[in-house]
Amino acid sequence: MRAKIIGTGSYAPETILTNQELEKRIDTSHAWIVERTGVYARHIVAKDEATSDLAVKAGERALKSAGIAPDDLDLIIVGTTTPDMLFPSTACLVQHRLMATSAAAFDLSAACSGFVYALSVGEQFILSGKSKTALIIGADVMSRFVDWTDRTTAVLFGDGAGAVVLASTSGTSGIVSTHLHAEGALWNLIAIPGGGSANPPSEKMLIEKCNTIKMKGSETFKSAVRTLEEVARETLQSNQLAPSDIAYVVPHQANIRIIKAVAERLGIEMDRVVVNLDQYGNTSAASIPLALDEAVRDGRIAEGKIILLLAFGSGLTWGSTLIRW
Ligand code: ACO
Repeated sequence: MRAKIIGTGSYAPETILTNQELEKRIDTSHAWIVERTGVYARHIVAKDEATSDLAVKAGERALKSAGIAPDDLDLIIVGTTTPDMLFPSTACLVQHRLMATSAAAFDLSAACSGFVYALSVGEQFILSGKSKTALIIGADVMSRFVDWTDRTTAVLFGDGAGAVVLASTSGTSGIVSTHLHAEGALWNLIAIPGGGSANPPSEKMLIEKCNTIKMKGSETFKSAVRTLEEVARETLQSNQLAPSDIAYVVPHQANIRIIKAVAERLGIEMDRVVVNLDQYGNTSAASIPLALDEAVRDGRIAEGKIILLLAFGSGLTWGSTLIRW
């Protein structure tokens, strides 16, 4: 028995923030951003939109493509580090809005690796027989936690959500293996240090902007390339596959230079790598399911193909999912 993705969906907010608009706000340039990151534009939530709004829309689309009614869901996991509130979980808000009243619901916090972590947990629920149909969502509203005066992070992030429906199958298609890792010692490479129990909201915390993303860019970059290559090799080796067996890699969309470096080290040509960060930036937990949904809808990802999801994020966390579609 395997857990199989039977539907995908995604949603990004309507408002688009281009590099040209950022040039007017901070000391940066379209040329620098494109050369150093590959990002041209990102989607930003409206004033009254939050993570659950994006997650619900992506979830609805995934359910529609799977032909599943919300009533049939018995599990909802939302990978997010930008929940609507500290509690209740965003997954509970999604459960209510979808009217998926039979579903257990919880959030999973693994930053940009949140979707791949959540997919692995969902897979375990399916394999154990505890769940029959699960909705796995990656959703983040990074724009609410960006310091818009800090050019080293403001140009990188965007908002979005992606979702898949998981069900059990007795065929050969489905999730073949998942590999999850963490290195907590490197927690301070990228963090939002304020707003939690260690540094709760206060005037001082806000003045120091501890409620925004703090990142050591080049160390994060190097860790991403190292860990993504390692976990890709681990996944290939444990499934006795060669890089040439992979039809498409769907990597976390943080920086085109990270993606190209990993692809080159693995010997995978860029036309077998799904990239959409040019239009979305880094949408954290949403980045992989957004790219996955795009590639499913345009027909690149089709039945029988072997797909490798590669995630990296704050924590540090990283992981992979190998899928026979
Ligand atoms: N516009 C113009 N110049 C800039 C900008 C900008 N937006 N940002 C930085 N610079 C300048 C710097 O100030 C520096 O100038 P200096 O040499 O005078 O000091 C110069 O450009 C080079 O800066 P670096 O930080 O060395 O640039 P780098 O090539 O490393 O690119 C970047 C920076 C894009 C942040 C890169 O390091 C990166 O992508 N890191 C990984 C980020 C990442 O993956 N984050 C997501 C983690 S996942 C998660 O959990 C959210």
